[in-house]
Amino acid sequence: MFKLKIKAGPDEKEALESLLYEHISWGWEEEELPGQALVFDIYFHQEDAGHRFKEVSRSMCPHIEIMEETVPVQDWNNAWKDFFTPIEVDQRFVVLPDWLQHEKQAAVPIIITPKMAFGTGHHATTYLCLRAVSRLWDLGYLKSGQNFLDLGTGSGILGIACSRLGMSGLGVDIDPVAVENAQENTRINRVGEMFEVREGGLSSLRPDQKFNLILGNILSSTLKQLAPDIIKHLDDSAILVLSGILTDQASSVEERYEALGLGRPARLNMQEWSALVWAGGKDSREQLNLVDALL
Ligand SMILES: C[S@@+](CC[C@H](N)C(=O)[O-])C[C@H]1O[C@@H](n2cnc3c(N)ncnc32)[C@H](O)[C@@H]1O
Repeated sequence: MFKLKIKAGPDEKEALESLLYEHISWGWEEEELPGQALVFDIYFHQEDAGHRFKEVSRSMCPHIEIMEETVPVQDWNNAWKDFFTPIEVDQRFVVLPDWLQHEKQAAVPIIITPKMAFGTGHHATTYLCLRAVSRLWDLGYLKSGQNFLDLGTGSGILGIACSRLGMSGLGVDIDPVAVENAQENTRINRVGEMFEVREGGLSSLRPDQKFNLILGNILSSTLKQLAPDIIKHLDDSAILVLSGILTDQASSVEERYEALGLGRPARLNMQEWSALVWAGGKDSREQLNLVDALL
């Protein structure tokens, strides 16, 4: 097991976080230092992957400090146990690691076995999606019996949340490691009958397949590129939640979807990330109501 410890100052920490989001799907530890610097601990199964990430981050952020370490394999599991603490969202969901699954919880539990797939609820982009689902549920836009598409399902966390609310749907991911982890998590959460997970992207869907809700926590560039294909699979109620968007890129994603006929979305913000939420068809007044209600 190989570990990188990277220290980034205030000017580079945002760029480094974006790189981590893009390349380190299985998560990392983050600690704030005095003076607004951050230290990131990133574990790699293979040393090569660690060196590749070191090169990419050094070229994007030339002033960061990088330390290397080799750690025994058993520390990997212990490291997970240290930093995978339960995450509560709006008192509706609680995301738990599998070793805490039997503890009694007031909120709807989502059990995640932390492996190499993205989606433990600790990252703001996932948290924002769960928050959007919870609020859309409160507002009556989402209901039991509806169907959803979890595009880029990762650990399956978002699809599991929707299934636990009584919706059914499909999760797809182009990464076979994520698919395996999501399938394991659907079994642990006993939602296998509501939530099917398979390998692939939008092209693996039937062209006429429609969903009441589409969730996509992927990078802005991919979301912009996939826009016409995502919209094609929305039914008339057009409930769409997009995340993985740095706040300073949110307007460009909004413009792309607006140009294709969706109205103005609501925005949820956390740290330097934004999620965009469309609901209520093309009626911009309804959209504005949703903006008010969500923010
Ligand atoms: C940031 S993770 C999100 C995981 C989880 N949905 C969450 O919200 O935490 C993005 C996932 O999308 C997958 N992905 C990236 N591009 C994709 C595409 N074009 N089609 C399907 N999946 C994609 C990646 O493999 C990764 O597992």
